[in-house]
Amino acid sequence: MFAIFCSLLITGCALTTSAASYDYSASIECLAEPLRPQYKGGVVGNPEFDSGLDGWNVFGCGKIAARKSETAWLRLDEGKEIVSAYLRIPNGQNRIVGSVIAESGCWSMLKGGFSVDENGKARLFFACLTKAIHQNRMARTTEQKHRQGSEEKQRIHVTGQKGVKLQGANITINQIRPHFPLGCSTTEAILNHKAYQDWFTPRFTITSFNNEMKWYYTERAPQQENYTVPDAMVSFFKKNKISIRGHTILWASVNVTQHWVKILPPKEILNAAVRRIGSLVSRYLGDVIAWDVMNENLHNSFYEDKLGPNASAMFYQIARALDPQIPLFINEYNTLEFPLDMRVIPSKIVEYIREIRSFPGNEHITMRIGLQGHFWRKPNVSHMRATLDVLGTTSIPMWLTELDTKRGPTQAAQLEEVMREAFSHPSVEGIIVWGGWKPTGCNQTCLMDKNYDVLPKGCAVMCLIDSNFKNLPAGDVVDKLINEWKTSNVTGVTDGDGVFEHRVFLGEYSVTYSHPRIPRPVHKIFNVTNGEGPFELLVAS
Ligand SMILES: *[C@@H]1O[C@H](CO)[C@@H](O)[C@H](O)[C@H]1NC(C)=O
Ligand SMILES: *[C@@H]1O[C@H](CO)[C@@H](O)[C@H](O)[C@H]1NC(C)=O
Ligand SMILES: *[C@@H]1O[C@H](CO)[C@@H](O)[C@H](O)[C@H]1NC(C)=O
Ligand SMILES: *[C@@H]1O[C@H](CO)[C@@H](O)[C@H](O)[C@H]1NC(C)=O
Ligand SMILES: *[C@@H]1O[C@H](CO)[C@@H](O)[C@H](O)[C@H]1NC(C)=O
Ligand SMILES: *[C@@H]1O[C@H](CO)[C@@H](O)[C@H](O)[C@H]1NC(C)=O
Ligand SMILES: *[C@@H]1O[C@H](CO)[C@@H](O)[C@H](O)[C@H]1NC(C)=O
Ligand SMILES: *[C@@H]1O[C@H](CO)[C@@H](O)[C@H](O)[C@H]1NC(C)=O
Repeated sequence: MFAIFCSLLITGCALTTSAASYDYSASIECLAEPLRPQYKGGVVGNPEFDSGLDGWNVFGCGKIAARKSETAWLRLDEGKEIVSAYLRIPNGQNRIVGSVIAESGCWSMLKGGFSVDENGKARLFFACLTKAIHQNRMARTTEQKHRQGSEEKQRIHVTGQKGVKLQGANITINQIRPHFPLGCSTTEAILNHKAYQDWFTPRFTITSFNNEMKWYYTERAPQQENYTVPDAMVSFFKKNKISIRGHTILWASVNVTQHWVKILPPKEILNAAVRRIGSLVSRYLGDVIAWDVMNENLHNSFYEDKLGPNASAMFYQIARALDPQIPLFINEYNTLEFPLDMRVIPSKIVEYIREIRSFPGNEHITMRIGLQGHFWRKPNVSHMRATLDVLGTTSIPMWLTELDTKRGPTQAAQLEEVMREAFSHPSVEGIIVWGGWKPTGCNQTCLMDKNYDVLPKGCAVMCLIDSNFKNLPAGDVVDKLINEWKTSNVTGVTDGDGVFEHRVFLGEYSVTYSHPRIPRPVHKIFNVTNGEGPFELLVAS
């Protein structure tokens, strides 16, 4: 094991510079020359790293925990290998801060994050198993506070009829539907619990089904497909104008593959899989807004093992041919949740997407990165942000597709922390909470169980509501954020130029405009989208 050490003094102190905003930039390309570090926040000495290791005092500041993001440029003497950055903290423990695939001949950027809850000296070091690492400049940024989803906001300008400056017109603006897809997964229980439907439909604009579209669900026995339940769910959500993320065409794990598939000879596995893709994707053409194609393929490889290394690339191609309109997702756990899982570090995800796209005909597939977000331990928001930054450089939008946090008294607070971080991140396009409710998943037995490390059989990890459809703390968090991330009940009066201006979240709105000089109030429905300058709304009477 080869390691480079550098010292880092961590203090929990007072930061003096003006509130600097966090730098979301990162790079996933391996570059001939490292980029100049861009750091808008934090206090960094010796950023060029060439006058020794002095001056690396960080005056980071936070109320409870200071959060840092570390950026380093690395190059290997030869070959290609995963390099990890570790922080050795005062008690002697090593914490992994981030990992990257580094290569010889070019510089790779490692961006990682860590939280400091104590003062003292810590050492940062980089290690890989065999090779010498060259390290270049580092930049360090200090987090200030959460952005409040500013990417999701836009100024709107409301004016009356063109050329007529009506001062003192009353304006009321209300959001009908938010732009940002915030959803929750569902189970078939949604079909026959009216109270569950009434709880669900006003809250969420998108869903995915826990299991009901999975292959083992729709084709338990060979050639005996049964779509009764998913069909009914699709029709329910369509009726209620709730979008559906298709989950999942295939699943790379052998453990969840039906026995009858497992025992087929390879050629027939291929036939069965192709038939499955055709059956599912054509059935829900126009009904779903996206598909997970090969769930958890970075962790598992059932189809590659049976059919050869390009199996999934080919399945992506078939799915796209059947439904060219919608994005195809990869869907993985642990990337955000667990930095020690080397199978799903950002470079691995990027490598996987390159592999899929390098299959002839796949070059232009529209893809999305689905990060499940099953936080079975305390979320590390700094790690999460650094990971989103790095993946964000691919320009492939990301979703949190199956978000839940660990059961127990801190579950709701952790859910809130992760949701805020995701919503604020410019590269995150949507969030789906993994809170699919069923009567036996959130009953008293489940809710009273205090052994949080072992999930009782049949219980859900995260319950937003109890068996009587009453909100639990996690449900309250979701409600709070839904309300915070929309703009409702804005009232105002036009000024001397006949204009009223306000900053609103993106989405669909209704406006009511009234003035003594117009016969009756004017109502209008409009979409506020992101664009240059304020959104101009003309309310003609
Ligand atoms: C993530 O945060 C936790 C809690 O603050 C901390 O114990 C851990 O070391 C952090 N991990 C990394 C990689 O920084
Ligand atoms: C299909 O599934 C539904 C719902 O589980 C069930 O009621 C029905 O009997 C099934 N149909 C067949 C032919 O098995
Ligand atoms: C599949 O199941 C076996 C036996 O229960 C287990 O050892 C293995 O870890 C599982 N594999 C995955 C990928 O979950
Ligand atoms: C997989 O696809 C790549 C790229 O087209 C090709 O070079 C390779 O031969 C394929 N491998 C197999 C086993 O088909
Ligand atoms: C609650 O649900 C669990 C898991 O499904 C089940 O084992 C238990 O019997 C249920 N308890 C009651 C009181 O219904
Ligand atoms: C907006 O106004 C309506 C009707 O007056 C009220 O029911 C609702 O609670 C208000 N919403 C917010 C977020 O204030
Ligand atoms: C505008 O609002 C004010 C205050 O709510 C109200 O007194 C007035 O009648 C309203 N004017 C019109 C034209 O609706
Ligand atoms: C707003 O945008 C949504 C989604 O694109 C669309 O369905 C809706 O019809 C639009 N509303 C208006 C008033 O244009």
